[in-house]
Amino acid sequence: MKAIEIRNKYLKFFENHGHKVIPSAPVIPENDPSVLFTTAGMQPLVPYLLGEKHPAGTRLTDFQKCVRTNDIDEVGDNRHLTYFEMLGNWSLGDYFKEESIAMSYEFLTKELQIPNEKLSVTCFAGDEDCDRDNVAFEAWKKAGIPEERIYFFGKDDNWWIAGEEGPCGPDTEMFYDTGKEKCSPECNPSCGCGKYVEIWNNVFMEFYKDKNGYSKLKQQNVDTGLGLERMAMLLQGKKTPFEIELFAPVMEKLVNLQKVDLIQSRRIVAEHLRSSMMIIEDGGRPSNVDRGYILRRLLRRMTRHLNKLEIDLSVLPEIIDVSIDSLKELYPELDANRDIIKTVIIEEKDKFVKTLQNGEKEFEKVANRAKNAGKKVIETEAVFNLYETYGFPPEMTEELAKEQGLEVDMSDYQRLFAEHQAKSRMGSEQKFKGGLASTGEVETKYHTATHLLNAALKVVLGEHVHQKGSNITADRMRFDFSHGAKMTDEEKQKTEDLVNEYISQNIPVEKLEMKKEEAIELGAEAMFLDKYGDIVTVYKIGDVSLELCGGPHVKSTGELGHFKIKKEEASSAGVRRIKAILE
Ligand code: ALA
Repeated sequence: MKAIEIRNKYLKFFENHGHKVIPSAPVIPENDPSVLFTTAGMQPLVPYLLGEKHPAGTRLTDFQKCVRTNDIDEVGDNRHLTYFEMLGNWSLGDYFKEESIAMSYEFLTKELQIPNEKLSVTCFAGDEDCDRDNVAFEAWKKAGIPEERIYFFGKDDNWWIAGEEGPCGPDTEMFYDTGKEKCSPECNPSCGCGKYVEIWNNVFMEFYKDKNGYSKLKQQNVDTGLGLERMAMLLQGKKTPFEIELFAPVMEKLVNLQKVDLIQSRRIVAEHLRSSMMIIEDGGRPSNVDRGYILRRLLRRMTRHLNKLEIDLSVLPEIIDVSIDSLKELYPELDANRDIIKTVIIEEKDKFVKTLQNGEKEFEKVANRAKNAGKKVIETEAVFNLYETYGFPPEMTEELAKEQGLEVDMSDYQRLFAEHQAKSRMGSEQKFKGGLASTGEVETKYHTATHLLNAALKVVLGEHVHQKGSNITADRMRFDFSHGAKMTDEEKQKTEDLVNEYISQNIPVEKLEMKKEEAIELGAEAMFLDKYGDIVTVYKIGDVSLELCGGPHVKSTGELGHFKIKKEEASSAGVRRIKAILE
């Protein structure tokens, strides 16, 4: 069964069971600084798991685009992926364990036709924080899983939380038996030998964890996640995700182009390319900090492995085309933004090729110096210098060093890196100040207008729109935002009309102070989250806009007068610029 069929079956099944299908959030979280990327379907839903009402109701389902980069160095083996799609269904204080388990069993055995004998499940064994999950146990037995295939484990295996703090709870996990021999008589689903592959996780989220420990949430939720690529792999009888239709054509293309046969390098290229495209599609751009740095790392690692395969880098556009073609059924947006995706990737590749040439020479010198001195280790300063001066990611220095039987000393790297980041942050604060430099009466009006414009663009163009910069003078406002295409006349008109509509409603502008976490939970828009302290100022304009911001703003939108877009143009790759006036 192809991935698209699995996804469609999943959404249809849960729709038939009373769930509303909601769209995937971007892989770049909208207002969550606690993680770099969306790592699970529940992440955009946190406020609703905590008790806020979701407009679509109490039963939701979706496919969520996810990026997890902790294991980036493992990519190349037969299973790790940095990008994956998670199918999920949620009960927000609606059904709980029994119904959730019954639906999962029905979906696996009836819709996907997985034989009962192939399934094993695990439940929470209980500890001082939460009882043994006998309810889940009984529900599995009732569904038809025999006791000997129901296992109990502790928090390490059967408790789920995203990070250190947040909604969490015991989970029950479903495993697919690949038919391999048990690696030992004790072999069970928590063993990593590959006999059992985890396919679905249902979390019974009724707790909240913070530094004081666990407390009960207002409601009992269910949060589930099923990895699409893995399920496709199993149902297609493949041993790795690289053999399914989402990767196979790129893998084959690489075989045809390569001069050196390296399967790990092919996987890294295919995987990192897909991840990068998904990040770029949602507005990410390579840079030296945070998300941009991860994207840069993915693209640079991909390029390096193309070099290892001795594939001429001028054919990169062809490889991108093959990858997009095999993914476009799942993600039509990749097809629609083919050009911008190529531009960003190729620009970064070109930059990297230049740095590589210089960096590799420098690396050779550093490595030779170490060897000649009879050392087996490259010093931290040299690693950092390679990064700062030659754009050589430390991971790459490490990879190259390994190839020469050397190690890298990273002991002081974090300190050097933190100093470097502080410098670049100072730069962005200055830019931020620049945006708000003067705040006379007219500038204040323009400032409020940027919030309305930001909100209107999200409505007209989509939720991927975020502020990327702004500059205000007494004569006009300039507003930069993430969006991959030139706006049509109709879109411009709609945006302008919507802003004027907000103005005519004379909506009060409220200044609120709250904890940063609370603002995030409320879904407040923010541009420089790291810059803010624990208590933040949030400006709320009715239901239209909620933004972290230092102000100042007008008291009510009616003060703004008439809003007019004068110009819409490209600012940089994937970023558009609007110049507008109030008259
Ligand atoms: N949130 C759960 C997970 O990511 C379903 O496994």
